Amino acid sequence: MKVLVTGGAGYIGSFIVKVLGERGDDVLVYDNLSTGHRWAVLYGKLVEGDLNNSKTLENIFSYFKPDAVIHMAASVVVPESVKYPLKYYRNNVINSINLLETCERFNVKKFIFSSSAAVYGIPHTNPVKEDMPLNPINPYGSTKLVVEKLLQDLPIQHVCLRYFNVAGADEKCRIGQAVKDATHLITRCVRTALGKCRCLEIYGSDYDTDDGTCIRDYIHVEDLAQAHILALDYLMDGGKSSIFNCGYGHGYSVLEVVNKTKEVMNIDFPVRFKGRREGDPPVLIADSEKIRKMLNFKPRYDDLEFIIRTAGNWEKRVWEENLF
Ligand code: UFG
Repeated sequence: MKVLVTGGAGYIGSFIVKVLGERGDDVLVYDNLSTGHRWAVLYGKLVEGDLNNSKTLENIFSYFKPDAVIHMAASVVVPESVKYPLKYYRNNVINSINLLETCERFNVKKFIFSSSAAVYGIPHTNPVKEDMPLNPINPYGSTKLVVEKLLQDLPIQHVCLRYFNVAGADEKCRIGQAVKDATHLITRCVRTALGKCRCLEIYGSDYDTDDGTCIRDYIHVEDLAQAHILALDYLMDGGKSSIFNCGYGHGYSVLEVVNKTKEVMNIDFPVRFKGRREGDPPVLIADSEKIRKMLNFKPRYDDLEFIIRTAGNWEKRVWEENLF
């Protein structure tokens, strides 16, 4: 199968490309390398370019003739989206429209979209099911919801995967997240454990949770990549357009993640409590029944210790080899 992966040189995209490549699919990655890396593309070809460039997109579609598109390319940092909403609408919404117009022109009818748990906003109950109300509380979540809605209005067979908190790295330490200004909790924790940051700041200790810190459902990036393969095969088998949560169905508080990191990396590090971060829901846990039942999703790495260990080993390599 020929699969075009936008954002395939990024953190999550590179794992999807790896799994597609391992099973013999023909992969073309389209990535502007703003946060992605050439070294991260282990299989297929990489074309460097931006989704705002319709001409290049057309060239790619006419040359590669994809059977399906996995659309990962996006800006993904919640606090940044609060600061620069227009950047998020441009990169996430307008660029998705460009891509979908090209799909229409070239009659590509299978489309997988990287959506986010951020579309739920502050859910009334947790774990959250796919059909619960959607009320994003930050521009990032809003842009993902706009594209989900847009897809529903198009005659394109699609799957939206709503990612919860993605973390961890390749067990063999070949790929993982490599960003200088990391904002994600697990990356920051392992970075602090490695002595690359002075202190881990915890945003908010007065939430209505057992220890007062936010709770998230952390999914290992390999399991998330597997979910894309299942979604792709589902679409190829004629599956109906659908939306799936991608999480494990249970969560950890920020403090639990911090303490687990200290234990796994066998080192203590300083922690400082700060005020709440804007745009943070208190608890976000996936109800993952739908993807388990409909796509037969069987996570292999539902283990916080494994997630932190792989993230820590990878982070060490990133700094040693300056892979940023
Ligand atoms: N946090 C800290 N200190 C840090 C970093 C994070 O306390 O140094 C806290 C945050 O306030 C939040 C939790 O850790 O409560 C998780 O924060 P992340 O930044 O790791 O992740 P987010 O939950 O903000 O967002 C992530 C992805 C989004 C996705 C969302 C879905 O970045 O793309 O998960 O749950 F939408």
